[in-house]
Amino acid sequence: MDPNSNKVSIYVEHLLQDDDMIRQLEGYVQMQHVYNAAIREVTTKLQILDEEFQCRYDHNPIHHMESRLKSPRSIVGKLRRRAEEISADSARRNLTDIAGIRVICCYIEDVYRIAELLLHQDDVTLLRKSDYIKNPKENGYRSLHLVIQIPVYLSDRTELVPVEVQLRTEAMDLWASLEHQMRYKSTKEISLDLQNQLRECAESLAAVDTKMQRIYKHLQ
Ligand code: GTP
Ligand code: MG
Repeated sequence: MDPNSNKVSIYVEHLLQDDDMIRQLEGYVQMQHVYNAAIREVTTKLQILDEEFQCRYDHNPIHHMESRLKSPRSIVGKLRRRAEEISADSARRNLTDIAGIRVICCYIEDVYRIAELLLHQDDVTLLRKSDYIKNPKENGYRSLHLVIQIPVYLSDRTELVPVEVQLRTEAMDLWASLEHQMRYKSTKEISLDLQNQLRECAESLAAVDTKMQRIYKHLQ
């Protein structure tokens, strides 16, 4: 047997592995580009709505926005939990929260108004809606979650890209941020008593939201 033939086959195998790796990385970079574009599109839509309210009613419904692309670590973690294939293509097919925007509004009615106006736009399709304001989670979590799909126009095709939009008031955001920190920072299980106290905090904040909205309406 030619001793070099083994070396050649190892070399070819490496080339194939490199090719595969390069394809995977290119797929991921392309995916990042498309999802970033989708975030920018939806953010702009929301900014335009907010500015219109400022012009017409002298009121900014949106206090501020945050956006993020899901990190490669979280993408892989979620695909693994769901026993799905680990690849950029599988992430596109199986995950709807790769692009995420959080919209922090001033009052509860701003949340619903902004959601309705966004969903009313011709190129926005609603894929899923979870109203955790009308139906708070067991732990007290409140927010309105929309998974929408919007077209991103590329040079050779149009991609329909899902974006998760979480709308909430500042009070709901305060609770969610602190609860998230506590859950991730604490090494201990949160006791039943502390869970109840956390839910009570969420309820108190919800009462403040309702009261503040009432005061605002009186002043209008
Ligand atoms: P995921 O696998 O987490 O996406 O669950 P899901 O598809 O059932 O979505 P869900 O609507 O429950 O929540 C999605 C996102 O909402 C999370 O990634 C968080 O950003 C936020 N969220 C949901 N529940 C809670 C909660 O109890 N506390 C906090 N702080 N955030 C939450
Ligand atoms: Mg989700």
